[in-house]
Amino acid sequence: MQRGAEMKIPNHIAIILDGNGRWAKAKGMPRGYGHVKGCANLETICEDIKDLGVKYLTVYAFSTENWKRSKEEVDGLMKLFRNYLKKCKKISEKNKMRVKVIGDISAFDKDIQDSVTELEEFSKDYDELFFQIALNYGSRDEIVRGVRRLARDAADGKLVPEEINEKVFESYLDTAGIPDPDLMIRTSGEQRLSNYLLWQLAYTEFYFTDVAWPDFHKPELLQAIEKYNERDRRYGGVKEA
Ligand code: IPE
Ligand code: IPE
Ligand code: MG
Repeated sequence: MQRGAEMKIPNHIAIILDGNGRWAKAKGMPRGYGHVKGCANLETICEDIKDLGVKYLTVYAFSTENWKRSKEEVDGLMKLFRNYLKKCKKISEKNKMRVKVIGDISAFDKDIQDSVTELEEFSKDYDELFFQIALNYGSRDEIVRGVRRLARDAADGKLVPEEINEKVFESYLDTAGIPDPDLMIRTSGEQRLSNYLLWQLAYTEFYFTDVAWPDFHKPELLQAIEKYNERDRRYGGVKEA
């Protein structure tokens, strides 16, 4: 297939940003260097995604399991998030992009929580790209938190159990109101979901590449979209029968 206008562009791309540590190690550098480069790459990819006409981008940046990493690495990541969340205001302004954080941010220091609230508020009227960042995100945790709120509403008489259907349930997830991803990309060779968007990826096409996240640029993105175009999609339709 030729690259260009005739390609069907997915409405929503979800990415597992993986391989920063191994990428740095291969260069004889500390893992934190990989995270810094990975974070810088996120800025570029946001622009590329927007230029291609993708409306929604959801990235996995820190999982509920990632707290188990060394204190040094976690501290480095927190520092990176602090800087990135501040910088992200400019990026959102430039790309007219609305930013939303999914995951349980109550586990972060207060200043990080405040930066998230500020960024979400600042960008809430932009609608050219909808950018979701998964921070302290785990799909099972998201589902349990959602069910807890749903049960509370039922106990308060706000909804009756018979009225609970897929639509109602989805409205309790962090991704409420966001369409399901059409394409999920995981970089750096692993072929697992690592607790990412278990409910939302039910019919999504998966694309795995050995390229590490800091090396994943526009040509790799186009290649993923090309592969997506070759798939015979039953739902959401790239190639409908
Ligand atoms: C992804 O890269 C970034 C985060 C999970 C924060 P990794 O840190 O998982 O890098 P590898 O997989 O160990 O190479
Ligand atoms: C998944 O990557 C989480 C993020 C990219 C933030 P991990 O590197 O943490 O996942 P595992 O440990 O390989 O499953
Ligand atoms: Mg990893």
